[in-house]
Amino acid sequence: MKILITNIQELLQVEKTPKLFVSGKQMKILPTIKNAFLLIEDSIIIDFGEMIFLEDLKVDKRIDAKRKIILPTWCDSHTHIVYAGHREQEFIDKINGLTYEEIANKGGGILNSAKELQNTSEDELYNQSSKRIEEVMKLGTGAVEIKSGYGLTKKAELKMLRVIKRLDKNYPITIKSTFLGAHALPTEFKNNKKAYLDLVINEILPIVAKEKLAEFIDIFCETGYFSVEDTERILKAGNKFGLIPKIHVNQFTAIGGIQAVIKYNALSVDHLEEMRAIDIECLKGTKTMPVALPSCSYFLSIPYTPARKMIDAGLPLALATDYNPGSTPSGNMNFVVSTACIKMKMTPEEAINAATINGAYAMNLHKTHGTICIGKKANFIITKEIPSYNFIPYSFGNHQIDKVFIEGKEI
Ligand code: NIG
Ligand code: FE
Repeated sequence: MKILITNIQELLQVEKTPKLFVSGKQMKILPTIKNAFLLIEDSIIIDFGEMIFLEDLKVDKRIDAKRKIILPTWCDSHTHIVYAGHREQEFIDKINGLTYEEIANKGGGILNSAKELQNTSEDELYNQSSKRIEEVMKLGTGAVEIKSGYGLTKKAELKMLRVIKRLDKNYPITIKSTFLGAHALPTEFKNNKKAYLDLVINEILPIVAKEKLAEFIDIFCETGYFSVEDTERILKAGNKFGLIPKIHVNQFTAIGGIQAVIKYNALSVDHLEEMRAIDIECLKGTKTMPVALPSCSYFLSIPYTPARKMIDAGLPLALATDYNPGSTPSGNMNFVVSTACIKMKMTPEEAINAATINGAYAMNLHKTHGTICIGKKANFIITKEIPSYNFIPYSFGNHQIDKVFIEGKEI
């Protein structure tokens, strides 16, 4: 089925030939076509250009965009959307003065979510998570990465990963899966971290690989969680099974994790709220995408990733939500893009690049997602009537979405 969309005020993020990502000064450039059309066939973009070049075409459906703006759907490369229950009590504890660390130390945090998930059936976990998938699609997200890591037992980690697989099968949004067995140390292993890592590596990982339950591997490399040494051990093990690293690192402390994981060709390093000059330096010239999670900084009141310093040093940057029950109970990429502009001083062009093309790269989806390009997925947002694309981040706390198309279908 061919659909032609005409009278587009501005078509954002257009691309002739797919590139990997944009970095440094390039991030300030957002290629657009004013007064444009877009032609899709089934789930794929087959043409686009200026209205004046539009020939008489036979199509199955025409949509008059009535001078609205079109941009590719958001690519959210870091989430924990599959979880059970909520942690709003910890939100209150935080208001009353406890830190993230103090909450974790009294049995809250990740371990709290793990206990809840272990006691939730696979079907129930699927039902709870599918609501969030539907929610983020309506908010304009067309591709998302989801991590395990709230199971922390063989049975519960596999349950999470199977739910991720089922969501991918049942929804049009593209879902990439990450095995994050080493997210936190379960209480029963409190004094024996080695034994827990043995379990993750020797018992869970081989099944994850055999059943193709994940493409990526992650670990929370952080003081009080897992060390740089633990991280290298996990990455080496993942490497044997062909799992690509995407790492939680430099969230609260800078302990040399970035230097370690780039040796294993990490696809992305995520969080990066605490960045030393040497951490920025060592990312230069690598193919590792730095990923900032501004909603997490907002919710926890911790520093924002120093985007300006990083981009001005020539690095690329992606933006993602980190949607999870503890540090970021929000999957709203529109808010992420606004917050990146407001708090991290990214320009709208940089923020849109970070949330589309660079986010796609951080999930290994650069060939199919992240730009308006012939041959890529027909994934796009039609905005409400807005004066310019600057209005998207400007109208923070709101969204400017009229319609969302994923794989050529309005959702
Ligand atoms: O990315 N930092 C580690 N993991 C999650 C938060 C997990 C939680 O608090 O439940 C994050 O922020
Ligand atoms: Fe996370």
